[in-house]
Amino acid sequence: MRKLIKPLVFAIALLPLAWILFRVVNNDLGPDPAEELAKLTGIWAIRFLIVALAMTPLRLVFNAPEFVRNRRMLGLFALFYASCHFLVWIIFLLGMQWGRIAEELVKRPYITIGFAAYLILFALGVTSPKVMVRKLGKNWKRLHRLVYTAGVLAVIHLLWIVRTDVGEVVLYGGLVAVLLGYRLWYKIRLH
Ligand code: HEM
Repeated sequence: MRKLIKPLVFAIALLPLAWILFRVVNNDLGPDPAEELAKLTGIWAIRFLIVALAMTPLRLVFNAPEFVRNRRMLGLFALFYASCHFLVWIIFLLGMQWGRIAEELVKRPYITIGFAAYLILFALGVTSPKVMVRKLGKNWKRLHRLVYTAGVLAVIHLLWIVRTDVGEVVLYGGLVAVLLGYRLWYKIRLH
């Protein structure tokens, strides 16, 4: 049974991609397909990031190591959906106009913040294999604590964009706050 969990989590994590591709193939992305694609990939990136963030607290609360065994894969899925989101922005929203892309990355605060979150996810993804854990030693843990910063930046990015649907920000912001709060409380309690 335990052996089945990982492939099952992998298959479930691919479902949003399948759903997005299904909608693309069926021309079912509404009046502004590029914007819809950006929204869908962005929302799945933040969802996977939050689920990955939840793994350690869930292990601690339920004393179940199984949660942490899936943490790396879930984090990599957050990076995967964030990469799709970034590519949709580059290719479809900005039409690969590199000058404009550079300008927006610097001049629009919500884009700069999203990009900073992406760079963190990228750095964590690159350093996630076991060989990198060994190579980086103590610094690995320090670096990977940045995942909380990525979560906070992603929520700020979302907060900046949201016009009407405040519920989404409250939900994702609240979840990141609870997870971060739990980790801080746990750390303080241990000392
Ligand atoms: C690589 C840098 C990034 C860029 C350039 C970027 C750009 C954008 C843009 C332009 C939108 C607005 C789409 C629209 O409504 O037209 C957006 C929305 C969003 N982005 Fe990003 N983003 C980046 C990174 C991230 C990351 C790392 C995350 C999460 C981990 C994220 C999560 C979201 C979410 C949740 C939305 C809102 C979706 C919705 O409206 O429901 N973004 N992003």
